[in-house]
Amino acid sequence: MRLDKFLSDAGIGTRKQIKEYIKNGMVRVDGEVAKRPEFSVDPEKNEIIFDNTNLTEGYAKYRYYLLNKPQGVVSATTDKHDTTVIDLIDTGFDKDLAPVGRLDKDTEGFLLITNDGKLSHMLLSPKKHVEKEYEVLTRNKVTEEDITKLEGGLDIGDEEPTMPAKAFIEDRDGKEVLHLILHEGRFHQVKRMLTAIGNEVVFLKRIRMGGLYLDETLEPGDYRELTDEELKLLSGKTDNERNK
Ligand code: URA
Repeated sequence: MRLDKFLSDAGIGTRKQIKEYIKNGMVRVDGEVAKRPEFSVDPEKNEIIFDNTNLTEGYAKYRYYLLNKPQGVVSATTDKHDTTVIDLIDTGFDKDLAPVGRLDKDTEGFLLITNDGKLSHMLLSPKKHVEKEYEVLTRNKVTEEDITKLEGGLDIGDEEPTMPAKAFIEDRDGKEVLHLILHEGRFHQVKRMLTAIGNEVVFLKRIRMGGLYLDETLEPGDYRELTDEELKLLSGKTDNERNK
């Protein structure tokens, strides 16, 4: 990529300022003062230093963050009125990050944030059947009959009924929590499924995607990078296979 693009992504200034910085000899690539903004660099191989700060240390082309999405924040990259999930990620190189799918503004929990479009596509593709597990607090008690209906496929007003799902009730210190495991991700799907059985979602939290659970040590609004092991759990692939 171009040196000025890299420096811009690193957030050190505007393109105009960056041009000046380069002109003033403030940028070094592999120890040499860089002279041209269009100079071609590979941040995974070259060492790029701005004003004595190494910008390429720890740089990775693909970045993966697990966010415990808080309520009140929208799953978008930009928004005129609301805070977005990307606003919560403050890592320097965050320009090309996007959430993998959407959680409603009032939904909490597991949200993957990445710039790896391939992985994102794979996780969201209905054909791949990646499981998403939700914890649901409901207005009314969920009966065994409800569980059968939720699992069997429901008419929620779309052309097709929902795909078979898994559902069970967890007794958490006397409080009943419905777990709903879906293989698809339709708009407001959990809420519409509960409406279809004459109930209502009071609180919704996603706790898992594929083989990876939400890290319960993350408070709502907190995030951290995924480990390689966790990435494999999500994608079922090694680093090399994934980036091919
Ligand atoms: N289903 C919903 O209704 N809302 C979400 O945020 C996720 C799944």
